[in-house]
Amino acid sequence: MTTPFDQEPPPECPAHGLGAGGLRRLYGAEAENDPMGVYEKLRAEHGPVAPVLIHGDVPAWLVLGHTENLYMTRTPSLFSRDSRRWARLHDGSIAPDNPLTPVFTWQPMCVFADGAEHERTRSAVTEAIDRIDTRGTRRFINRYSNRLVNDFCEGGLADLVGRFAEHLPMMVMCQILGMPEEYSERLVQAARDMIKGTETAIASNAYVMAALMRLVAARRAAPENDFATRLIQHPAGMTDDEVGQHLRLTLIASYETTANLIANVLRMVLTDPRFRAQLSGGHMTVPEAVEQTLWDEPPFTTILGRWAVCDTELGGQQIKAGDALLVGIAPANVDPVVRPDPHASMMGNRAHMAFSGGAHECPGQDVGRAIAEVGVDALLMRLPDIELAVEEHELRWNSALMSRHLMELPVKFQPQPQQDVTRPPDPAASRRPQPEWEVTMSEPKTGTGSAPVPQQPAPFQAPPQQQPVAYIPAQRRPSAPKRLWQSVSRWWRGY
Ligand code: HEM
Repeated sequence: MTTPFDQEPPPECPAHGLGAGGLRRLYGAEAENDPMGVYEKLRAEHGPVAPVLIHGDVPAWLVLGHTENLYMTRTPSLFSRDSRRWARLHDGSIAPDNPLTPVFTWQPMCVFADGAEHERTRSAVTEAIDRIDTRGTRRFINRYSNRLVNDFCEGGLADLVGRFAEHLPMMVMCQILGMPEEYSERLVQAARDMIKGTETAIASNAYVMAALMRLVAARRAAPENDFATRLIQHPAGMTDDEVGQHLRLTLIASYETTANLIANVLRMVLTDPRFRAQLSGGHMTVPEAVEQTLWDEPPFTTILGRWAVCDTELGGQQIKAGDALLVGIAPANVDPVVRPDPHASMMGNRAHMAFSGGAHECPGQDVGRAIAEVGVDALLMRLPDIELAVEEHELRWNSALMSRHLMELPVKFQPQPQQDVTRPPDPAASRRPQPEWEVTMSEPKTGTGSAPVPQQPAPFQAPPQQQPVAYIPAQRRPSAPKRLWQSVSRWWRGY
């Protein structure tokens, strides 16, 4: 039987988005400029599972259908997380310097494990996450957010990616893991660098690992009530090396994704007329903006991946044992089968694939949501008149196989004085009952609900847990949105 991967390329093929066998590439100019457009072409050409080429023109399958993605992630007996099964690794078709090597090289971590071994290491991570003090963490998120805003609020201008989104998750995660004193610009840069696979990635990885191994040694000697100690003390009996690797995994898995989510939520809040429309109805809140963003701009667009355990069929395609498959998060989220109108509000619906599914589904999703919700909320409270400082079409994105991020988000606002973030949180606030990980939604403060109520500068206090919090500011350029919205929706439709 021949597969799409065996066919020769048509010699006349002019499209640079096509490679061997006329297959579409998920890398290169076309895929990087318009990934959603490529996904939709693939869906039209192949249905819910499409043959594609990834870096180095290595063949793989991209799973586009929502149902097929769920099936794949929930059926580890057919689709393993163990990359050592990849037949292409053994037939010489993947060069040793393939840029995706850091993504697919097997490591002794829960991400690459199946079955009992996955259960052993993952249970340590999930229990450590479950025991995070949610109220205390929300207070830290709020305090760190205000500290970051203090650094730029007096200027009236800021890039929210570089000054806010890229820092907040690292500050919070250093606190959660148990190393708040290690947070620094250098750590932020090193974490980004090692994910990007740049020339300095190895040195950056060594820098991050050294910080984490110092933490492991310190907690082994003197346990504390933090994430690192919980990993060490878990009955899974992790070695120091395993603890260090899982701390690194947690830092990477949480940092890049949550930074992306914050940036994407802020962009939507500032530019997307759907929020304005909702606001005129009065009730689009920050948590709803976060959820809509997880549908429309998930921090991971795809995940490499899963590897077929045996010959099988998925979405009408014949998958061979040892084939690689990508979890198609972004395409699954706009699959017409589950979302016939891609512009419809998904309010109240959390069935997106942003956190994947099955046994490897993200265990930190509530932490990620909380950082984004509390952080964006705190920023909007401090800078209620915030607006984009450039036209939306001037925003620049950086795309890779597995994610797409905003490079800058320049904003302007009325300069505000700094607030005191050193005062201890109000203890009464933590005694009040509150839902876990949930940002309270406010009632509109104006008749139309079209704008947030400006805050008077005041000393910083812990967030009032059952009091109203910020509404998303209304779009402040009444004439611009229509044109901008057209460009956004064109981007989503891919034409
Ligand atoms: C909004 C932010 C986040 C998003 C969108 C996200 C998304 C994901 C996705 C798509 C996966 C891959 C699942 C798969 O292979 O099928 C994953 C795995 C993982 N995430 Fe997250 N994540 C986020 C935040 C976090 C946070 C804050 C933490 C830790 C506190 C975390 C910890 C992990 C871990 C440990 C794994 C590996 C789980 C396993 O393989 O069993 N993530 N995440």
